[in-house]
Amino acid sequence: MIPLIDLTSQQNRIRDRIDAAITAVLDHGQYIMGPEVRQLEDDLGAFSGNTHVVSCSSGTDALMLALMALGLKPRQGVIVPSYTFAASAEVMPCLGAVPVFADIDPVSFNLDPDGLANAKAAADKAGIDCVGIITVGLFGQPADYDRIKAFADAHGMWLLDDAAQSYGASWQGTKVGHLGKLTATSFFPAKPLGCYGDGGAVFTEDAELAEIMRSARVHGMGRERYAYDRIGMTARLDSIQAAVLIEKLKIFSDELGARQIAADRYADGLAEVVEVPKLVAGATSSWAQYTIKLPHGTDRHMVQDKLKDAGIPSAIYYTKGMHEHAPYAHYPVAEGGLPVTADCCARVLSLPIHPYLDDATQSRIIDAVKAALHQA
Ligand SMILES: Cc1ncc(COP(=O)(O)O)c(C=O)c1O
Repeated sequence: MIPLIDLTSQQNRIRDRIDAAITAVLDHGQYIMGPEVRQLEDDLGAFSGNTHVVSCSSGTDALMLALMALGLKPRQGVIVPSYTFAASAEVMPCLGAVPVFADIDPVSFNLDPDGLANAKAAADKAGIDCVGIITVGLFGQPADYDRIKAFADAHGMWLLDDAAQSYGASWQGTKVGHLGKLTATSFFPAKPLGCYGDGGAVFTEDAELAEIMRSARVHGMGRERYAYDRIGMTARLDSIQAAVLIEKLKIFSDELGARQIAADRYADGLAEVVEVPKLVAGATSSWAQYTIKLPHGTDRHMVQDKLKDAGIPSAIYYTKGMHEHAPYAHYPVAEGGLPVTADCCARVLSLPIHPYLDDATQSRIIDAVKAALHQA
């Protein structure tokens, strides 16, 4: 079986440097908030051109810290795509606030700017005041920031970009990290930039918000140790994960280039038989996933079984919109429903993608997809 995401080839490439970096942490012994954490924040800031980088314990905690800094209050609403990973929606209820589910664009898989008014209308009807929007750069491509920001500005809302899958990408020449007042990302191992455990970060140009997040990630501590300015949490990134990320960031640009080559090869090989993912003009992707849409009426499970028989794993991201999961069923859904979300959930299939996917393996995958479709 070939891997869906190959972390071993990458580790083989930089194992010596990772070993040395981890050994350095073991030698100095500052396991929490050691010098690697500050260095990583500086390195990430240089990579995406951000003034303030607040590293933290996961992508979910990054979203939580961002919402705490933005001052989200109970009962307030935040528009979010239903077609996303749980974390993008889960953080609102954790703070007593309300996710308001919106539909996506069929090409980019991202929040549809034309659907925002329907989402706000549903919230208005439910008496929920929408104060912000969370965009999600799903599968690696950023959302249509310009049009979403225009809507947000017109209604006095802030924008938080969930870039757990899209850190490393760009929109109309602007790097992810700047599409929103705050940008949150995840360093979960399978993400384009991942560590060897859990990790995350928030990016912003706003010094005041950065200060709040730095305090909130250590229990709301102020300038004096054990004096608390606010309610916070334990959300620090540990030194070993920072040390790993410093080494991985050095090869990240090269890996992004390799991911793009793999995505192009898939598009060349599969565009005739399935809907292949397309980049919006002016957007780049970090290709966290390569997600195709099977023709209407295809037996997707049969395709998956045939691929599995050929030693090729596949995944369905996602089988249902978040609004269809029981704990979220009572939250507002955009007027007119979420037909694009439903269609994607019924037809998507994610294929193996990573920077170390070679030509021969990819040809094997392409041939197997074609053969499986022929039979399904
Ligand atoms: C879109 C999105 N947001 C947030 C997260 C949460 O990241 P983490 O698993 O690091 O908490 C993920 C992780 O899968 C994600 O895909």
